[in-house]
Amino acid sequence: MTENTLNTDIVISNELADKGYIILPDFLPNALTEHLYQHVSTLPTDQFGQAGIGRNNNLQVNQQIRSDLTHWLTEESDCEQAYLLAMDKLRKQFNEQLFLSLFDYEAHYSLYKPGNYYQRHIDAFKGRSNRVVSTVYYLNKNWSAEDGGELILYQQNSDNIIRRIAPTFGTMVIFLSEKFPHEVLTANRDRYSIAGWYRIDRPL
Ligand code: OGA
Ligand code: MN
Repeated sequence: MTENTLNTDIVISNELADKGYIILPDFLPNALTEHLYQHVSTLPTDQFGQAGIGRNNNLQVNQQIRSDLTHWLTEESDCEQAYLLAMDKLRKQFNEQLFLSLFDYEAHYSLYKPGNYYQRHIDAFKGRSNRVVSTVYYLNKNWSAEDGGELILYQQNSDNIIRRIAPTFGTMVIFLSEKFPHEVLTANRDRYSIAGWYRIDRPL
């Protein structure tokens, strides 16, 4: 590892510790991001499932809250394996530098078709989830304001918007799962992301 990578690593950890979130453009090598995009954008439709929400199994209610389609990443495809490996490296880094005990990482692709959205929500509730750190990685080239689909990060218990983030190719967003309510605005064209969660190995 070069000194430069080490410094960058420390900056990521420090900023996550200070602000609770961090936005990183060009997070992974371009070729890997491209590979992930090619992979997800050519997956047959029957490989996607209707997204579920927490312990609520009422699909009709769920679809009012979110309408994206999801596909879980596995070690079986090369690009997914490379992604999971990069995220596992980051997991170890957070554990060392921030004294966390993140145990594993799970991630799924999300596809928002035109008209799809995900209403304001929190990825983890105290006492109900072992998700500690959320990540979202974006795979969309030439995303413009008219395409909608921005990620809105809110302040806890408030309508104040902290950041609006365009789902631009190569951008990684990382935030503390319990702290940041967030929302995906209606997308006007196909919108691809990888949502993931670092977890501890016991329910909080
Ligand atoms: C999620 C989520 C955000 C995004 O899947 O929980 O908030 O921008 N995704 O895809
Ligand atoms: Mn979320």
